[in-house]
Amino acid sequence: MTQSTLHVAVIMDGNGRWATRLGLPRLAGHKAGAETLRGIVEAAPDMGVGTLTAYAFSSDNWKRPREEVDGLMTLLAAYLDSETPHLLAQGVRLTVIGRRDRLPEVLLSAIRNSESGTLHGSRLHLRLAIDYSAREAIARASRSPEYFEELLSSQPVDLMIRTGGEQRLSDFLLWESAYAELVFTRRMWPEYRPADLRQAIREFHRRDRRFGAIPALMPPPVLHERWLR
Ligand code: IPE
Ligand code: IPE
Ligand code: MG
Repeated sequence: MTQSTLHVAVIMDGNGRWATRLGLPRLAGHKAGAETLRGIVEAAPDMGVGTLTAYAFSSDNWKRPREEVDGLMTLLAAYLDSETPHLLAQGVRLTVIGRRDRLPEVLLSAIRNSESGTLHGSRLHLRLAIDYSAREAIARASRSPEYFEELLSSQPVDLMIRTGGEQRLSDFLLWESAYAELVFTRRMWPEYRPADLRQAIREFHRRDRRFGAIPALMPPPVLHERWLR
């Protein structure tokens, strides 16, 4: 029962490098990355994941060249449009976190359709982070009792996975990840497979989460004879 409530967060990094290495435009990497997400979403519920939060576009990603940003916005809208029927069929509820006021209308309407169309999904909650910044979300909460309540009651991240080899959070879910277990992999996101997620979840279950306390079932200390001498 506790298994079905795992909150896994994924920083889907490495699309650009993967494409560049193959001599392809970076946008081809983002397209392949969208395919990867599709496979992960399908597989996650059977691995005990109840909530999956995926970092698709950070507020700092606006710094990228116009062409890449526009391509990403179009791709995200296309992803939502094409995925919504499948999400619905799989019992996945989709919501988007992040700022809405800077997104193009085509993406906003895709978000609205997908969110309302999948509202009753209960097998998996997929949260896509678009124009998301954790520091911005925390600052916003400090200015609004409603957002503050929302932040305080948000589901903590159990497992944070980052692909692409970097070992940093890049402003993702800073509050929610206070006690998250971190798993970093050098695999680029377009090459990430459900088997890799399974491996990360196995690793998570091997970790000893203490939350600052002392393990409940700590074995008695072994007193070796040489220490007693
Ligand atoms: C992650 O892949 C997707 C986004 C940030 C939109 P990148 O585009 O950051 O890929 P790399 O890190 O340059 O390889
Ligand atoms: C983080 O990746 C954002 C997403 C994966 C959407 P970045 O590629 O933007 O992060 P940095 O710049 O390497 O920290
Ligand atoms: Mg990157």
